[in-house]
Amino acid sequence: MVEDREDTLSDIDRAPGLNPNVPSSARIYDYMLGGKDNYDIDREVAHRMLAIAPDTKTLAWFIRQFLVKAVEMAADAGVRQFIDLGAGIPTSPNVHETARKIEPSAHVVYIDNDPIVHAHCDALLAHSPGVTALKADIRQPDDIIDRLKTGSLIDFNEPVALLIIGVLHYVMDDENPYGIVAKFRDVMAPGSFLAITHASGDTHPDFIGQSQEDTNSSPSQVVYRTREDTAALFDGFDLIDPGVVPAQEWLDDDLPATRLVIYGAIGRKSS
Ligand SMILES: C[S@@+](CC[C@H](N)C(=O)[O-])C[C@H]1O[C@@H](n2cnc3c(N)ncnc32)[C@H](O)[C@@H]1O
Repeated sequence: MVEDREDTLSDIDRAPGLNPNVPSSARIYDYMLGGKDNYDIDREVAHRMLAIAPDTKTLAWFIRQFLVKAVEMAADAGVRQFIDLGAGIPTSPNVHETARKIEPSAHVVYIDNDPIVHAHCDALLAHSPGVTALKADIRQPDDIIDRLKTGSLIDFNEPVALLIIGVLHYVMDDENPYGIVAKFRDVMAPGSFLAITHASGDTHPDFIGQSQEDTNSSPSQVVYRTREDTAALFDGFDLIDPGVVPAQEWLDDDLPATRLVIYGAIGRKSS
């Protein structure tokens, strides 16, 4: 249990590290997707989530499918550059695999602030030309944009697809998630895409309570935002139908609702 750990979560900095006593969003998600790169603490937290919302593993795959759909939509529209912010431990199909089925020359930059994720991305993904892994924090958008420009990794004169899948709910209100997205928006060329998934306040209250108990003050602390607050992240983008809805509604009308609700939305910059 969290209370039994030597470190209390409130003592621990919110930057992710290698401490096996602190749950990591990347490793919990890896576990939900059936991966092996997770610790006991991550599995304990995941099992408490699953006790309340057994469909969370299924939801994790819906969200990966939403990511694939967003990449395909952008690639079909002619986008050749992809930034995956908060990329997570590599899971196939990845962004570059998906994009390159449509456009073999697609460039992808995978960015994450978790050292374990970065090591995996660097080892597994970044061998081929045009695929790069950066260790960086989304809460420092100027640094990321500067590195993308100076490394000639992204040409912001051309459209780009910015994928922020399951990340902004780890950015607290006082860390200004709207300002972070706006920094990227302001350098993105017309025709660029923005895809976001975000934890919803419509999630079952028991799930929200458990997740707060398990993760408050850790790097995996979650802010559950409203549909309106999630839509506001798309300021300056035209939201594409069906708008801000549970992510599975982008895939198929018949997919079941889940106790953990994750919104999915895709927008396009017109000017
Ligand atoms: C739930 S996982 C989602 C992974 C992937 N985007 C996906 O949907 O499959 C969240 C990821 O966001 C990363 N993350 C959380 N806060 C971050 C931050 N401030 N800067 C960069 N990455 C962050 C975590 O390390 C983790 O890999």
